[in-house]
Amino acid sequence: MNDNPPQVYLNGQFLPLERACIPVLDRGFLFGDGVYEVIPAYRKRLFRLPHHLQRLDNSLHGIRMQPPLNHDEWRAILERLLAPLPDGDYSVYLQVTRGVAAERNHTVPQGITPTLFAMASPLPVPPPAEQRPGIAAITLDDLRWKLCNIKAITLLANVLVREQARDQDAAEAILVRDGLVMEGAASNLFMVTDGTIVTPPKSRYLLPGITRDLILELAGRHRLPCREEEIPLTKLRQADEIWITSSTKEMVAVTRLDGETVGNGRPGPIFCRTAGLFADYKEAIRAGEVD
Ligand code: PDD
Repeated sequence: MNDNPPQVYLNGQFLPLERACIPVLDRGFLFGDGVYEVIPAYRKRLFRLPHHLQRLDNSLHGIRMQPPLNHDEWRAILERLLAPLPDGDYSVYLQVTRGVAAERNHTVPQGITPTLFAMASPLPVPPPAEQRPGIAAITLDDLRWKLCNIKAITLLANVLVREQARDQDAAEAILVRDGLVMEGAASNLFMVTDGTIVTPPKSRYLLPGITRDLILELAGRHRLPCREEEIPLTKLRQADEIWITSSTKEMVAVTRLDGETVGNGRPGPIFCRTAGLFADYKEAIRAGEVD
């Protein structure tokens, strides 16, 4: 038994995970009626917290909820969650559901109090870019809804496509809508073609990834050619490099797509360069120089 079990945050209290319970009439449980964020904390320093909290507010707005806390209040909670943990990298999960209703009814009751939950889990440190293995991915029809820009807890479609990927020994499913590539089941997508980094533009069909935005920012700052442009699946199949990005996976090269080798079958040079820039940025966060 761990004498000092990690605490989670639930509705104003810090308590051990096994004591954190929610009523079964919570609309998150019954309807998937809620939104979430996943925020890395490198050496317990929260990565781009204002960006994550702004996206949380946008998601809440998208599901017609008022922000239950302001950004300073969220920061205080998340920092208090991290404070007792050993030094290291973590991913912080936070979730807001619409709350507990008196009965199961699709119509939202008036005056309902949101349920707020947060927890921190260790985040594995990825190997340096050159040693990072690539993954296999498959492409699948995007069977999600039309509000993918909202980071909703309702993730059944994402779970099912990820399972289809696993059936084919692939680590990610890349989702295609009307012939255009959108993103992965739990990641954003980049390709490199003719030396240029390309990623689909933001729209309601993909999540505005915080990692994605940082990569575009770093590429711009270091004068790596990059653009936001729609990517037809036919173009993706001819790409020199394909990468996926997310808060928990950071940057991962896709080296097999639908059973075919991508590029030379190893993480490409522009991937390695960009992942190196990302690693430097992370070090700057660890040193407290940026957020
Ligand atoms: N998911 N697109 C989807 C559908 C995602 O679920 C995620 C991340 C991303 C990448 O966004 P970001 O860079 O802000 O993490 C894109 C998280 C990690 C998850 O659901 O666990």
